[in-house]
Amino acid sequence: MVRILVIGSGAREHAIVKALSQSKRAKKIYCLASNHNPGLINICEDIKIDNINDPDLVKNYAKKHEIDFAIIGPENPLFNGVADALWDIEVGTIGPKKNLAQIETSKSFTRNLLKEYKIPGCPKYKTFKDMDGVEEFLSLLGEDYVVKYDGLAGGKGVKVSGDHLHSHKEAILYCKELIAKGGPFVIERKLVGEEFSLMSFCDGQNLSHMPVVQDHKRAYENDTGPNTGGMGTYSDSDHKLPFLEDSHIKLAQKINEQTAKALNQKFGEGYKGILYGGFIATNAGVQLIEYNARFGDPEAMNVLSILDTDFIDICESIVAGNLNMLDIVFKNLATVCKYAVPDGYPDNPIKGEEVDISNVKNKDLMFYASVERKKEKLIQIGSRTIAIVGHGDSIWEAEQIAEKNISKVKGPLFHRKDIGTTELIQKKLNHMLSIK
Ligand code: GLY
Repeated sequence: MVRILVIGSGAREHAIVKALSQSKRAKKIYCLASNHNPGLINICEDIKIDNINDPDLVKNYAKKHEIDFAIIGPENPLFNGVADALWDIEVGTIGPKKNLAQIETSKSFTRNLLKEYKIPGCPKYKTFKDMDGVEEFLSLLGEDYVVKYDGLAGGKGVKVSGDHLHSHKEAILYCKELIAKGGPFVIERKLVGEEFSLMSFCDGQNLSHMPVVQDHKRAYENDTGPNTGGMGTYSDSDHKLPFLEDSHIKLAQKINEQTAKALNQKFGEGYKGILYGGFIATNAGVQLIEYNARFGDPEAMNVLSILDTDFIDICESIVAGNLNMLDIVFKNLATVCKYAVPDGYPDNPIKGEEVDISNVKNKDLMFYASVERKKEKLIQIGSRTIAIVGHGDSIWEAEQIAEKNISKVKGPLFHRKDIGTTELIQKKLNHMLSIK
């Protein structure tokens, strides 16, 4: 019997728990959560709602349930040293220790690592603690710049020229705002192209790459509106993306491999977990936008729902450091994932309203996120609510299924109808051609 702890309680963690539950191995799954996710309640042996960022609390829960290994879903527990605490009591953990998680938690750390180890894909950048040199660097970059808060900000710390900042004056004001809040920041060249996510299982030495996925961060159709955690994602049946060349994927894989190696050299111990590179294919090749130290959300729903290899075997190989002995296989299916989100999301999401999923016939590929069951009713609790994945032989087929099912989720919600459609993908192909 394997006893597994999953930390976190969104749709990503629902996808993780589902993948674990599909293992042929005898198992009991425990969850430390921030909310009563109805999808987790049905599968887990026990769910405890508590502070998932408290290393001692997590350690005690793991001891109590004699956990064999743990998977950390979100980034905040990584930042707070939860993986370190679990390894201290010999609970192998999928999710890096605090030092190694800096790959996500510090933008300057990642840029400096790429520079120090001569890893390709690093745009021109500079790190700042005060206003010294800011104006000069902005002048050097001209109209194409990004200002990034150097820490975790739930996706809200990045401001891009043209989108959020319309002049150097505005950029300088934002930098001053960050300084006033006590935060260092990074300014770097804005990259133009099409973004994609490449997640790799990493055991400290060996990497095994997952299919590449494209996320849609903007709230509204045609990639407009405010940035969100991600409104939906797709991947193709050959595990590539229509707008990418094989060389783009190869280079992204190489960057993940070199980054894992650099982390190992820097800290004298390996990164164990999911290394998620947020890349962009530009006219100058593939560049790294940022790293995340965990599964993407929604990307986890795309890849884990087509995973053919036993997920418990993969997790144990990551902990043991022998991923190279395991052949990890994904089904040759295209996937489209769409999120239904509350009206007003992301800036003023409504809360406390009822969601009706009774018309969704096949719930196998439905994932609960920011939602709880109260007196037999499903109630929104203020963020991305329900995700639904469609599978098919083509992205077109997968999109039709995802769209049909997500449209049946009723309530004060909206979703992006355009994600995964032929029209939007053609726009992305045209965009790539236009920047060549
Ligand atoms: N899909 C974006 C993220 O997980 O951060």
